Amino acid sequence: MNKKTFISFGLLALLLVAIIPLWAYKKDGSLDSSSDAVAASDDYARELFQTNCGSCHTLARAGTDGVVGPDLDARLAGAAGPAQDDQAIAAMQSRVENAIKNGLGDGAMPAGILQASEVEIVANFVAREAGR
Ligand code: HEC
Repeated sequence: MNKKTFISFGLLALLLVAIIPLWAYKKDGSLDSSSDAVAASDDYARELFQTNCGSCHTLARAGTDGVVGPDLDARLAGAAGPAQDDQAIAAMQSRVENAIKNGLGDGAMPAGILQASEVEIVANFVAREAGR
């Protein structure tokens, strides 16, 4: 094998090892563009939602599509649209907190899915993102 062939194979190997996985990763990451629009500071809240609520609820910004419970984009922000100011967010947040703390529909949505410290974080996230 001469030096030129050797270098060509080296470059090809580099391409396969480094660039292709990177490309696949980027491609995968951009599949769900709506949930990508969520701020990095909301990663924790979004993860909590995905893990604890997403199997039952659709919320576009969390990238979930559960159908056991109502679509939260539609239920919370259907007619009036997404919460636009702090007051509307606070009102929606306490509605979501009530649902999480007390449950709904005779156990169809069980009470106490989240620890007390997580309730506000998730409810605030849902209130800000529902309908967006
Ligand atoms: C086991 C399935 C299930 C899980 C898990 C679940 N829910 Fe629900 N949720 C439901 C069902 C079913 C309803 C509708 C109950 C009814 O209206 O009788 C509902 C209703 C709601 C509502 C509507 C309340 C209203 O005022 O209209 C909100 C908000 C909500 N859930 C938020 C959440 C959040 C946040 C989580 C995660 C912490 C969650 N849910 C987890 C099943 C679930």
